[in-house]
Amino acid sequence: MNSVILTGFMGTGKSSVGTVLAQSLGYRFVDLDALIVAETGTTINEIFTRHGESFFRSIESAMVKRLTNESHLVVSTGGGVVLDPENRRLLRSTGNVVNLTATPETIRQRLLSESDRPLMKNGKSLEKITAMLAEREQCYADADIRIDTTGKKVEDIVAEILIWLKKDC
Ligand code: S3P
Repeated sequence: MNSVILTGFMGTGKSSVGTVLAQSLGYRFVDLDALIVAETGTTINEIFTRHGESFFRSIESAMVKRLTNESHLVVSTGGGVVLDPENRRLLRSTGNVVNLTATPETIRQRLLSESDRPLMKNGKSLEKITAMLAEREQCYADADIRIDTTGKKVEDIVAEILIWLKKDC
């Protein structure tokens, strides 16, 4: 129940923030996508291309279940994990859910040079990002705290989370 779960759209900084946050707390850092890659021995792109999104989502949910048995973790989740209500319920029962946000422009800038996001492979237009954010908004809002990462340094975001965690304890 004492883990910290980072949720948020692609490019909101979950992995960078999670790595530093885990170091600061002395917790183990787990990147859910990296766990899926390790478990399946293939890339996220390949899973989507060969087996489809629903297969990816089933592995993702299995990994979420596995994490609920552990404690003292900082978990960086994939941007779509929150789409499944059961995933959200399990993640919230595992610890504090921190939702990272950013403006569509910031997300677009951060994703421009990336090629490992299958859902973005047909273009990273502002319109597409804005539409996906709107579609997912309610799922991201299902969190204990929401932090806007736009224009902020990783260290400052981590400091913000640490202050909030102390208040919460
Ligand atoms: C996804 C986000 C990705 C990855 C997959 C699907 C999504 O993770 O899980 O490509 O549906 O938003 P990141 O948020 O770490 O990029």
